[in-house]
Amino acid sequence: MSRSAHPAGPRHADVLPEGHYFAPPADLNALDPKVWARTVTRTDTGAVSVGGLDVGALAEEFGTPAYVLDESDFRARCRAWHQAFGGEADVFYAGKAFLSRAVVRWLHEEGLNLDVCSAGELATALAAGMPAERIALHGNNKSTEEIRRAVEAGVGRIVLDSFQEIVRVAHIAERLGKRQRVQIRVTVGVEAHTHEFIATAHEDQKFGIALAGGQAAEAVRRALKLDGLELIGIHSHIGSQIFDMAGFEVSARRVVQLLADIRDEHGVELPEIDLGGGLGIAYTSDDDPREPHEIAASLTSIVTRECQAAGLAVPRISVEPGRAIVGPTAFTLYEVGTVKVLEGLRTYVSVDGGMSDNIRTALYDAEYSVSLVSRASDAEPMLVRVVGKHCESGDIVVRDAFLPADVAPGDLIAVPATGAYCRSMASNYNHALRPPVVAVNDGAARVIVRRETEEDLMRLDVG
Ligand code: LLP
Repeated sequence: MSRSAHPAGPRHADVLPEGHYFAPPADLNALDPKVWARTVTRTDTGAVSVGGLDVGALAEEFGTPAYVLDESDFRARCRAWHQAFGGEADVFYAGKAFLSRAVVRWLHEEGLNLDVCSAGELATALAAGMPAERIALHGNNKSTEEIRRAVEAGVGRIVLDSFQEIVRVAHIAERLGKRQRVQIRVTVGVEAHTHEFIATAHEDQKFGIALAGGQAAEAVRRALKLDGLELIGIHSHIGSQIFDMAGFEVSARRVVQLLADIRDEHGVELPEIDLGGGLGIAYTSDDDPREPHEIAASLTSIVTRECQAAGLAVPRISVEPGRAIVGPTAFTLYEVGTVKVLEGLRTYVSVDGGMSDNIRTALYDAEYSVSLVSRASDAEPMLVRVVGKHCESGDIVVRDAFLPADVAPGDLIAVPATGAYCRSMASNYNHALRPPVVAVNDGAARVIVRRETEEDLMRLDVG
């Protein structure tokens, strides 16, 4: 679907912003490989399959709504990121995008590391056998207990986020008789989102320690003095769903400048830098993300150039993609419950999930696409709004999209690119039961996170 000035566009032009029309895709049955997991195809029957399995059969076996995750696609993306840097960088998958024990095992097998940001994520990583030295702990307000567990487990790095934490981690490590490897997260004054970045005035946020005003340099001074800490590098994360590499360029330049200042002041060259995550994916056909090898080449050349200019040895680079690995590998499978036509206004297609399984549309105005997947259809395109079943009018899954005009109760529809920040941000609003995550691979499907049950709800309700 493309958003453009298209006079022949919508059936309900009056509800779209003036001058904006949605052009229906040329073929509503086509599945754009940019937004769908790699093994998704429409078969001869007209239904969609993934990993060699028919979505109708998946719905029958596992119910709807369900997140369906293509394991081979996930693994392929891990490998692509790993190979993109030719083994010359460390890739830390950001577990906040979606984490489960199966995912941890896949990461481990594919040679990736893992970034966790809470005790719960750390526990999941360790329970699934991720070696502690391949785990990084993040967070702007890690509890003493979280720090203690991480240090005791022997995590490869803790990313320090405040002056208080520098002291806290050092004391805990010393008490445990350890020297903890740490990075300092700096705020470089760049904030990037999607196609834009802003290179000034974004120190006003809760993460990291500002380069501006010498704050980061002071943090380095303090960290270098503490016996419990081994300062291995500087970390910067500038935003999320970014397509424009210019923000990374500014960030890398400023981080390398700090490394040069540290060398000049302390006579040490820190061996690592981490440029964070935030690489964008295609949610609709309008998005054009870059491939991991292009991103790696661009980051490596920026860092190399800046280091050469500063007379520094090139540090080991690490990155933390979350969305770019898991996002495109999953779709959410829903069953249509009602189709409500408001004449001259809009058509609402209600599904059996909603903001409890995908809060991103309500929270960020995120755009998604949707397709009819249980069958093909030759019906004309109809502009619809896909909504959930929650008691809230903002419960929107896909704000504006085309479905065949014969879409009807009982049809299965699917929203692609829901692998990241959907299950991980899911809620029990209205006592909804959070959907399962079903992994498919080579003709086999298995539940990796099961559907919640009413017993799960009751177990927490101890009053
Ligand atoms: N590293 C750090 C330090 C981060 O804070 C994040 C994301 C990442 C890596 C991974 O970013 P990614 O590659 O997944 O974009 N809930 C929001 C996204 C919040 C991202 C928070 N930090 C969303 O649904 O768009």
